[in-house]
Amino acid sequence: MAKRIIMEPSRTLAEFRLLPGLTTDETVVEKLDLRVPLVNSPGDENPISLNIPLVAAAMQSVSGPEMGIELAKQGGIAFIYVSQTAENQAAMVKKVKQYKAGFVKPYTIKPEMTVANLQELRKTVGYSTYPVVNEQNILLGMITKNDFEADFHGNFKVEDRMIPRSKLLVGVEINNLKRANEILIESHHGVLPIVDREDRLLYLVFRKDIQNHLNNPLEAVDSEKRLLCGAALNTRDYQERAPRLIEAGVDVLAIDSSDGFTVFQERALKWLSSNFPKIPVVGGNIITAEGFKFLVHAGAKCVKVGMGGGSICITQEQKGTGRGLATSVIEVAKARDEYFQETGEYIPLIADGGVVHAKDICIAMALGADSVMMGRYFARMEESPTEKVVINNRVMKPYWGEGSPRAREWRSQRYQQDKFAEGVEGYVEFAGKLSDNLIETLAKIRSTFSSCGAKNVREFQKNSVLELVSALSIREGQVHDIYLPRSESVITN
Ligand code: IMP
Repeated sequence: MAKRIIMEPSRTLAEFRLLPGLTTDETVVEKLDLRVPLVNSPGDENPISLNIPLVAAAMQSVSGPEMGIELAKQGGIAFIYVSQTAENQAAMVKKVKQYKAGFVKPYTIKPEMTVANLQELRKTVGYSTYPVVNEQNILLGMITKNDFEADFHGNFKVEDRMIPRSKLLVGVEINNLKRANEILIESHHGVLPIVDREDRLLYLVFRKDIQNHLNNPLEAVDSEKRLLCGAALNTRDYQERAPRLIEAGVDVLAIDSSDGFTVFQERALKWLSSNFPKIPVVGGNIITAEGFKFLVHAGAKCVKVGMGGGSICITQEQKGTGRGLATSVIEVAKARDEYFQETGEYIPLIADGGVVHAKDICIAMALGADSVMMGRYFARMEESPTEKVVINNRVMKPYWGEGSPRAREWRSQRYQQDKFAEGVEGYVEFAGKLSDNLIETLAKIRSTFSSCGAKNVREFQKNSVLELVSALSIREGQVHDIYLPRSESVITN
């Protein structure tokens, strides 16, 4: 017979609701602070914290460098996926760490391209300004949507319609945003290409972007004001991979595993903390108090909680292992709080898998998580590393699990073939730019905090009152008994 049989069903986040607390002048949305710790770093003067409690999952279809940059700019962090060569992964980390706010890596085109082809390209990539370069990346000119009329100039070449280099305002080796801004303001130009001394194109600086970047108070940055970047490791090649990622500037590592309660993870954590004591490592995933203690004793500075709840996850069906995310967070947060009482060390928790709505984020945090990791949410954004496709007249982006056949293909070239999949491949509806989506999601989170009478995450976690709800009351809380003509096109945030 089993060692233990729990007869209480495990619970998902969707089964809880928050009861309001007193909203005061101090808890109005404008004053709320969503800062959260990402890792425990005792004695460190600059512990890693996020300005919003959102983390992008280490997945091929979610966290490349564009997501890393954009999410850190907005106050969160992405973990660059591990299912690629260490060299590629380190290059992605470097791209995030070397990003200079306001300096955009441009999408370039060649002078021989036809205007008709440029028009097609615009439909997919969407930009309106294209620098024109030769094979050596030397700047030859620039073309914007105002320089051609697609119907009239279709057969022209880009070089016939572009503004040539000789007529462009160009900055040579400028890497100071304030200086670029001054040049743009003095010259009344909207865009400044930056080149090196050989006239090779480096960046574009857009006037419209500058103010955004100069006043971006939520950016998650390190002590040198570089954007924060995380990266995932596996338990096989971490000894070769971790040094490369650290050299590239990674701030925090995470061991990516659907089941972190293993001696393999213990060995990896011990090796990493003794060889690189300054780089914090996130352990996981676990769903029990026992798993939590095991990882913390092995050296984890943050623990990721959740198994089987991801939108692309079939672990529960394939292996029968897993637990509702709410129950997992409740049990692990209790163990974390006890550990804090005993040792004074606070280990942040990341709730991971199946977090869909802003309300789920709030409920996970009220139950004790410090932040949430999401895959599906971020896969829908412009900044995820996949191309848009149109299916049944809807714009979609592909999304696949790290345990799906598509992602496992990379692993099986190197390691023994897994015998079965733990994830699937599908599509999610394209949702536009991350920054636009975050405005809505964060507004909802702030509004929940305000209703619950909390000025910050600590107060929210300490003072929240949650209630388990019945299936009928969940139904009552949804729209009912009303005809919604376009209900099938609702996009959730
Ligand atoms: P989502 O936000 O519900 O889409 O879940 C994302 C999370 O699912 C990730 O952060 C991982 O923890 C987990 N995950 C990613 N790929 C797989 C997979 O192939 N099988 C099971 N879980 C996965």
